[in-house]
Amino acid sequence: MGRGDLNPEDIVRLEEDGPRVVLLDQRRLPDEEVDHSCASAAEVADAIRTMVVRGAPAIGVAAAYGLALAALRGEDIGEAERVLAASRPTAVNLSWALAQMRGEPTPERARALHREEVDRCRRMAAHAAELFAPDTRALTHCNAGGLATGGYGSAVGALRTAWERGLLAHVLVDETRPLLQGARLTAWELETAGIPHAVIADGAAAAMMASGEVDLVVTGADRIAANGDAANKIGTYGLAVLAAHHRIPLYVVAPTSTIDRATATGAGIPIEERDPAEVTARFPARNPAFDVTPAALITAIVTEDGIWSP
Ligand code: MRU
Repeated sequence: MGRGDLNPEDIVRLEEDGPRVVLLDQRRLPDEEVDHSCASAAEVADAIRTMVVRGAPAIGVAAAYGLALAALRGEDIGEAERVLAASRPTAVNLSWALAQMRGEPTPERARALHREEVDRCRRMAAHAAELFAPDTRALTHCNAGGLATGGYGSAVGALRTAWERGLLAHVLVDETRPLLQGARLTAWELETAGIPHAVIADGAAAAMMASGEVDLVVTGADRIAANGDAANKIGTYGLAVLAAHHRIPLYVVAPTSTIDRATATGAGIPIEERDPAEVTARFPARNPAFDVTPAALITAIVTEDGIWSP
């Protein structure tokens, strides 16, 4: 195993000496493995905003550790919660994790939440692997691996379990413009797991489907509305349209901490618009970071509790 097979505490942890939250800086992967230290809840919020740590469950875990850090330092807990909650808008795991910590913002509670998220990943991966036939050729988008979940992964977890069961032949990895989570992070994790893969430009997915090289699409999610509409990395909706056109199943693998029953449909999900300079600094640009895939285009949603058809 290479370095892409990280322990949960390599990705995000709380060190009580200091105290500080330590994050693997995902902006610098795969070229450099460098830790990023946060000495306050505001610094954790900044690390979430600037995507030192990213991926819906992982930012929830980081926020939980950030709140525990605030309590250890004697910070105003209400203010710490407000600052952390405001760091990124789309992934509901962030506010979910902060709500879980309410009344008990301790290191033990944050570590338990982290362990539970990784356990949910393993359970949902086991369910999702049932959807793979022998020799499946999959396509995935963005990074829904251990880096994005604090360990093991959701969509990549499904790929790992399918691979271990001898059901997976190959994975096409969308590069995922503009921040290249697929080309940098998912490819790194698949390489470590020894899973055959190839990075493709986002725009190549349609042609690969048309030429019969994709049996299923599997992604994670940042927020799933009560009706099954799912927000995920920009480009997922386009993939879902393409998959429907080519009659290829599209599966969303996500923990129940990603389900937002208080939001009725995808229209109510806040979509983060990031700095246009991430796209280009030369011309005017727009940079929506997520899109919403309507439930009707999702073949099944897989959580730790099982497989659900919308
Ligand atoms: O902007 P990012 O990198 O945080 O976006 C992450 C994604 O869209 C992931 O697919 C999603 O969070 C699921 S992670 C298990």
